[in-house]
Amino acid sequence: MKKSRVLVSGGAGYIGSHTTVELIAAGYDVVVVDNFSNSDMSAVENVRRITGADIPFEEVDCCDRTALRRVFEHYDFDSAIHFAASKAVGESIEKPLEYYGNNLSSLLNVLSLMREFGRHNIVFSSSCTVYGEPDKQPVTEQTPRKSATSPYGNTKQMCEDILRDSVAAYDGLKGIALRYFNPIGAHPSALIGELPRGVPQNLVPYITQTAAGIRECLSVFGDDYPTPDGSCIRDYIDVVDLAKAHVAAIRRMIEGKEKAPYEVFNVGTGRGVSVLELVDRFQKVNGVKLNYRIAPRRAGDIIAIWADPTLANTELGWKAERTLDETLAAAWAWEKHLREKE
Ligand code: NAD
Ligand code: WQD
Repeated sequence: MKKSRVLVSGGAGYIGSHTTVELIAAGYDVVVVDNFSNSDMSAVENVRRITGADIPFEEVDCCDRTALRRVFEHYDFDSAIHFAASKAVGESIEKPLEYYGNNLSSLLNVLSLMREFGRHNIVFSSSCTVYGEPDKQPVTEQTPRKSATSPYGNTKQMCEDILRDSVAAYDGLKGIALRYFNPIGAHPSALIGELPRGVPQNLVPYITQTAAGIRECLSVFGDDYPTPDGSCIRDYIDVVDLAKAHVAAIRRMIEGKEKAPYEVFNVGTGRGVSVLELVDRFQKVNGVKLNYRIAPRRAGDIIAIWADPTLANTELGWKAERTLDETLAAAWAWEKHLREKE
């Protein structure tokens, strides 16, 4: 039987590379597209090493409609996973036009080409950032979205709406928005993982770089929040588990199991972990001492958010499996792998 092919836009990136591995493991063919604005060819090569598959790759900017059209002309795929976007919250405040331009027009191009070429299923990378500071925990897919606090967050809300409206208007088009919580960790092979450029803004890369001696000291942003230990709470989801949620979402649409043409799922563990708990676990699991200090709160931080993943558990048949300890061990193994290469 001919295998289904999936277009993976942004597939050289952190989550896209892990998802490509899981798609291949689940028996799908892929075509990976990336413009390397936040990645490089090594991730694609390492995905080839992990899977042993000769994965087709096209260096294409999804905002370049002509170039993207050639991918649609050349490859026969019925499904797409659209990761390609710019993702740094702080940078989006400084460069809103670049963020709106890239994140909106790349999705618009993928959708309009899918329509033109009669391709059916799309999974979109959304984010728990659409919930803002929730009034109640854990958040379900019914929890109201709040006004976005950054252009980046706004693009996620706008892209969800573009997808919802397109699916409603065009027969045969189906879409799933996955709202990721905080993706962390790396593939157990330590061949692929997160590649932060410059000073990491996210907690786990900052922790691993501090443990590796690249950063002097981790700042824990605030210990006076109304939480049990005073630090912020998040739902840290292992990137391999997250990758598997994409496979489940694609399979759901291919098999026609969706309950509605447009669906939204939270992808989290259902477990809230504080910054101080995470720092503590990282040290214990990896047997390393982390230099950290309590620093003032970071502007714009949500106090606490974690997922109710029941809908994904029951409908997608997906559940986060890796423990926080396994994930933190994988994050450290990846950091060490990067340092060995230097
Ligand atoms: P990433 O930067 O590692 O991956 C994104 C990839 O897309 C990169 O390889 C980049 O080069 C590529 N890209 C960007 N614009 C492109 C374009 N116009 N054409 C082709 N390629 C392009 O980021 P990631 O963490 O893997 O995130 C993937 C998706 O998930 C993004 O849409 C992001 O907004 C979303 N997301 C990420 C997180 C997170 O914390 N990492 C959380 C929620 C949602
Ligand atoms: C986690 C916690 C920080 C760094 C961001 C985006 C969100 C989504 C996921 C894409 C917070 C604390 C951090 C540090 C710290 N991305 N922290 N010291 O802010 O939950 O979410 O990534 O959609 O949109 O906003 O993730 O990893 O930056 O922070 O104390 O050096 O760690 O204050 O409580 P965040 P994060």
